Amino acid sequence: MKVAVIGLGYVGLVQAACFAKLGHIVLGIDLDVQKIASLQSGMLPFFEPGLEDVLRESVQRLSCTNSIAALEVFKPEVILICVPTPARADGSCETQFVARAIAELAVYVLEKTVVVIKSTVPPGIRKDLQYVETSGLIELASVPEFLREGKAVKDFFQPDRLVFGVQSVWAEQVLRALHKGIEAPICVMSVESAQLSKYASNAMLATRLSFMNEIANIADVVGADIEDIERVVGSDKRIGKMFLRSGAGFGGSCFPKDVLALSQAARLHGYETRIIEPIIEINADQPRRFVNKVRERLGDFSQKTIAVWGLAFNGNTDDVRESPAIKVIELLLAQGAAVQVYDPRAMKQAYAFLQDRVTYATSMQEALYGAETLLILTEWPEFMKADWNDIAHALASPYLFDGKNFLSRAQIQQAGLIYCGIGICSDVSRPLGN
Ligand code: UDX
Repeated sequence: MKVAVIGLGYVGLVQAACFAKLGHIVLGIDLDVQKIASLQSGMLPFFEPGLEDVLRESVQRLSCTNSIAALEVFKPEVILICVPTPARADGSCETQFVARAIAELAVYVLEKTVVVIKSTVPPGIRKDLQYVETSGLIELASVPEFLREGKAVKDFFQPDRLVFGVQSVWAEQVLRALHKGIEAPICVMSVESAQLSKYASNAMLATRLSFMNEIANIADVVGADIEDIERVVGSDKRIGKMFLRSGAGFGGSCFPKDVLALSQAARLHGYETRIIEPIIEINADQPRRFVNKVRERLGDFSQKTIAVWGLAFNGNTDDVRESPAIKVIELLLAQGAAVQVYDPRAMKQAYAFLQDRVTYATSMQEALYGAETLLILTEWPEFMKADWNDIAHALASPYLFDGKNFLSRAQIQQAGLIYCGIGICSDVSRPLGN
């Protein structure tokens, strides 16, 4: 099939490359001339494991342009809208870029085409865009994506499910043909249900995290151990072991934005949500709680140098949007600390937020020079394999702080360091043998 993808960001470029790998002929469209130029020269605008290989394998079937008029000649059977839907100041979802893309493409659609909104949009937007369907040449659909940054290629080819929000059997058949070759349960439903199911999935995942963060905060004040609690809670098959890890907060361009947008969308339709706001409030306060935990053990930060490993919001991505690491660093700076940072991929992106207020180290080790302690704030695999003995010698304080509760407490303690996470601190006694 011929597929056009409008918006070549973290979602759109993965869609374009992976559908080309599936065997489709793909036209990628983005108004950013610089991005198109770098893509045409084989340069990726962001880091995503495996994406470079997929692009290399499918280069024959993927072309990129910054002219939406190319649709007229290309004549795609499906057009995927993957443009940004950022949060407005009031938290509602900004859908103007989606509306603009659809208005522009409508001019160039000369044959019956499924226009798929992949961008996360609140249910109800279709009614505002129905005018483009009057020609009978366009049918709007919703195929929400559930890709995780850092695992997006894997999630594309091995999704837990595919969701088709359609208005006709014809559109469903077109989408089935588009996704041929992906083995996954297919959930067919209305456009509105598909859009709400995306928000519900993200809000459910964010709820798990904020709930476990609240339990971890209670563990901190009662002297319990969140790892033990997580093991017990996760062993209930109805709950499951995944996505229960506490930390200094979740970040990314999705959870914080989508959870608030869901609440705003409900309010717009006359329903006041009550469970949604606390998810955001707890998450927003985690960086502060984490920094307080550091200060309780280090004392006043002024005149002290603090090393930070990890700037991205998650491991295996260079994305720093809503990253708890950036929020923690801002708090450290505000309390007088000198901060030395290292991240394998996200230093350039972080500079846009931190500018020259921190020192950028060229290696994990360099970040430790003269440091009182080390805060590890992103789940990069290389941090898990650090030499804790070297680190113990390099730091002035015996404390090491894990802002994502993902490191091996036993290995760190064996090196003579005191491991501190969220809801965990090995300076709080723990029964032997655990
Ligand atoms: C999320 C959803 O998982 C994905 O389905 C949707 O399409 C987009 O939003 P993403 O935000 O890219 O994906 O990554 P994810 O792996 O979900 O991590 C989100 C945040 O939660 C990260 O900051 C991560 O560090 C944090 N996290 C994740 C935890 O703190 N604990 C966990 O157990 C898992």
